Amino acid sequence: MKDKLINKLTSKKASIGIIGLGYVGLPLALAYSKEGYKVLGIDQDQEKVISINEGKSFIKHIESSDINKALEQGLKATNEFSEIGNIDALIICVPTPLNSYKEPDLTYVIDSITSSIPYLKKGQAICLVSTTYPGTTEEELLPRIESEGLKVGKDIFLIYSPEREDPGNIDFKTGSIPKVVGGYTEDCLEVGISLFEKVIEKIVPVSSLKVAEITKLLENIYRAVNIGLVNDMKKIADKMDIDIFEVINAASTKPFGFKPFYPGPGLGGHCIPIDPFYLSWKSKQYGIYNHFIELAGEINTEMPNWVIEKTVSALNNSSKSLRDSKVLVLGVSYKKDVDDLRESPALTIIEKLLKKGAKVSFSDPNISSVNLKESSVLLESIKLTEESLSDFDVIIVVTDHTDFDYELIKRASKLIVDTRGVFDIEDGKIFRA
Ligand SMILES: NC(=O)c1ccc[n+]([C@@H]2O[C@H](COP(=O)([O-])OP(=O)(O)OC[C@H]3O[C@@H](n4cnc5c(N)ncnc54)[C@H](O)[C@@H]3O)[C@@H](O)[C@H]2O)c1
Repeated sequence: MKDKLINKLTSKKASIGIIGLGYVGLPLALAYSKEGYKVLGIDQDQEKVISINEGKSFIKHIESSDINKALEQGLKATNEFSEIGNIDALIICVPTPLNSYKEPDLTYVIDSITSSIPYLKKGQAICLVSTTYPGTTEEELLPRIESEGLKVGKDIFLIYSPEREDPGNIDFKTGSIPKVVGGYTEDCLEVGISLFEKVIEKIVPVSSLKVAEITKLLENIYRAVNIGLVNDMKKIADKMDIDIFEVINAASTKPFGFKPFYPGPGLGGHCIPIDPFYLSWKSKQYGIYNHFIELAGEINTEMPNWVIEKTVSALNNSSKSLRDSKVLVLGVSYKKDVDDLRESPALTIIEKLLKKGAKVSFSDPNISSVNLKESSVLLESIKLTEESLSDFDVIIVVTDHTDFDYELIKRASKLIVDTRGVFDIEDGKIFRA
């Protein structure tokens, strides 16, 4: 059974099912299509299903033309799980958020496996891609699959392989990012390798599902902790009148042992602010308290308050108060050149500014409107012109999109608070935050 599946996978005759057609699942579906595989995309979001079947992209960095090419290649999107009976390998790329207590919320993972189970058959591979704590695949997927009489490792091949997608990074495509793969048994691992080896240039096999799961968490915790470190250093540098960006650039000239991380307005996106807490939650089951994760979380979560404080003091310098000041937030997506608002610190900053009585607008070339839940306000992105910019008392650079005209911004603005080190500090006009 294993050899037949491996044969189908490596000869590209296998059909691949992908559950969750978002930032991770859609590029993966396109990568399989590009290599000639027949792909079935399953998503519960009917709008996404329609959009894909009509060849229209809903993600900024994914071209509609690539979806159209995949459709010609046989890609089909659906919200019908019953079609799973016809596929050879199922890849699950659904969200893994935190609940309001900052604990893992596996609802989407469990829902997607539960909906698939009635249609599973012998000889299929199931691979979880969603980021999660070590133990999830074995503790949550395996018993559910086996409850229907299928034996994992014999009838069904269970794999975990995390995604390292970096949306907006044009230097790396899905296929050029090495992929860590773990299997429940040696046979599962072998199937896992053949599942990915035709679409990903380099496969990194590891000894177990747990190793693959925790590897992804280490990567993201490493980022969260290092960003927390530079955010902390930024505060002392600021008090000492030192430009932290100059310091990081100087330190980066060290040819070994130093990797630059940059401070900012706080963490955003569906990974770095969330994933570390998957591990700290699981660690408690083993009596371990992850000090680094919690500390970095505290520091990074505090950053929007620091930005507000710096904005208040910059306005104060011009004898103005934040209340009733006209504030423009530049960039609201969680990072440069993407259209993803999830967990964006810009949203926290805007909510806090509104609460303090500021009149807030925003501009973002990738986001047309923002629905602020706490204050029940809907803001529309404004166009940046000499006139519109000069109308604001202060401009806060939150996300440093490439498409902004920084010369215009500098020329036309009265006061700038820069959280990204875009501008050099200028007495009385440009402040760091
Ligand atoms: N976005 C990133 O850059 C990134 C990078 C690496 C890893 N990840 C991880 O990948 C996973 C997916 O993240 P994403 O950013 O692609 O999420 P996303 O929200 O962009 O996409 C997930 C999709 O899954 C669909 N979905 C949810 N439950 C479903 C169900 N039961 N059945 C069918 N479809 C369902 C949603 O409708 C959505 O379209 C997460 O675990 C995330 O942590 C994300």
